[in-house]
Amino acid sequence: MKPTFYITTPIYYVNDVPHIGHAYTTIACDALARYHRMKGKKVFFLTGTDEHGEKVQKTAVQQGVSPRELADRVVTRFQGLSAALNVTNDDFIRTTEPRHYASVTELFRRSQQNGDIYLGEYEGWYCTPCESYWTDLQIADGKCPDCGRTVERRKEPSFFFRLSKYQKPLLDYYGRNPSFIRPESRRNEVAAFVAGGLNDLSVSRTSLSWGIPIPGHPGHVIYVWYDALTNYITGVGYPGGGERFDTFWPADIHMVGKDILRFHAVFWPAFLMSAGIAPPMGVFAHGWWTVEGQKMSKSLGNVVDPYEMVEVYGADAFRYFLLREVPFGQDGDFSRKGLVHRINSDLANDFGNLLNRTLGMLGKYFGGTVPLSSPSGGEDQALIALSRDVADAVDRAMEAVEFHKALSSIWDLVKAANRYVDVSAPWTLAKDPAKRDRLGAVLYNLLEAARICVLLSAPFVPAASQKMWEALGCEGAVAAANLSAAGAWGGLRSGVTLPKSAVAFPRIEE
Ligand code: MSP
Repeated sequence: MKPTFYITTPIYYVNDVPHIGHAYTTIACDALARYHRMKGKKVFFLTGTDEHGEKVQKTAVQQGVSPRELADRVVTRFQGLSAALNVTNDDFIRTTEPRHYASVTELFRRSQQNGDIYLGEYEGWYCTPCESYWTDLQIADGKCPDCGRTVERRKEPSFFFRLSKYQKPLLDYYGRNPSFIRPESRRNEVAAFVAGGLNDLSVSRTSLSWGIPIPGHPGHVIYVWYDALTNYITGVGYPGGGERFDTFWPADIHMVGKDILRFHAVFWPAFLMSAGIAPPMGVFAHGWWTVEGQKMSKSLGNVVDPYEMVEVYGADAFRYFLLREVPFGQDGDFSRKGLVHRINSDLANDFGNLLNRTLGMLGKYFGGTVPLSSPSGGEDQALIALSRDVADAVDRAMEAVEFHKALSSIWDLVKAANRYVDVSAPWTLAKDPAKRDRLGAVLYNLLEAARICVLLSAPFVPAASQKMWEALGCEGAVAAANLSAAGAWGGLRSGVTLPKSAVAFPRIEE
């Protein structure tokens, strides 16, 4: 097992406050970071904000403040997401920090030095909202192929990066690293794009002042994507030559939305190759959320505010819903009804109830003291075997970044444990004093199955799992437990006294 794991979110533009899309990527990264920590790895988890560029400058002008003032104000909303959503990022990078200026300048200098950057003039059809130039071929009837808005003709002196030179190295890299771009369908898309030929890329602007200046070339600032992508190495200490960079680079996963995959899977590895730095090991593109069947937009007024979700439903429920509802990688639809349904059926009924009813029976029949473990019957062995299979399935799913599968496997165990209650009928065993040992074994097995479910679900529902962990008499933070050691059957301690109930997932009125 590789002992380290470095995962990143995209850095978010500060021209707008966080919405469900930002929360989604961040939560997905957090679940992975937590999972890999519980596997015993040294994890570095980076998120942050993208503060330069035309979009931010424009919004600042509209609001009558400087771009820096805008950034300083909005960044707190993104930083606050970590506490609200129970997200465990190790650092938060802002592209306006001095450490990032040093990093971008150095990366650029290295490419300049080996001849991959040259001065030219750029002319093209420019879409301001998308910050993209398009060629004649790409614009159908004068509209941006990405957003459909009108483009304008624009020309300016610009530094270019020799992206064309990296066509073959990129295709080779994809070929050697079949899991570099995931999901697989996206990989084919990107590879086809690269195979179609790459134009050199304009990497500086003179039409813009809000950016990182290029030393020795007054008037030029670094193009926003070159600036933004570089955050991933700044965050681990580039170019300081420190230990963190050596430990964590190349990143294991850059998590991104499907709209920005190309920047990460084509431009970014090429910039790095040019500077003699190893490309990242993986880029994963997730899908987009619509809201109640409609595209999310300010004008429709249907933007989902993650802070409100946490306030009304709780961070655990929101996290669970986002990662359970939709196969990761595909688009999905967010609805309050769907969220409430998942909370009541999966969390409160299935999982919460399993623990709560077992604690109730333990209180009633054993005064709350955990009995000895003595599995005997076939149904006991089946439950134990299932718990092992589920732990393996969760691991495979998490390695494949398939959260929905990991969660549905955990729920296989939750549901099997609930069935085990019905089949073993502790209330009947309790009537016969000769069956007291059997009753004890049944309750032990139930609590132990619950403990394993709690452990496996900890990366997804961190607060509730901690509460359940404590209710099961387990010590320390569940987040700090080691999955393989703690996940072995029989880890629950006998003889400890547990509470008679624990409500980890309250029901919500429909
Ligand atoms: N600043 C760039 C990223 C630079 S990374 C080096 C950027 N920022 S963003 O704030 O506009 O978007 C951040 C992320 O939010 C993207 O990954 C995007 O896919 C995601 N989402 C925006 N709307 C979304 C949905 N409706 N649903 C899911 N994710 C969405 O792009």
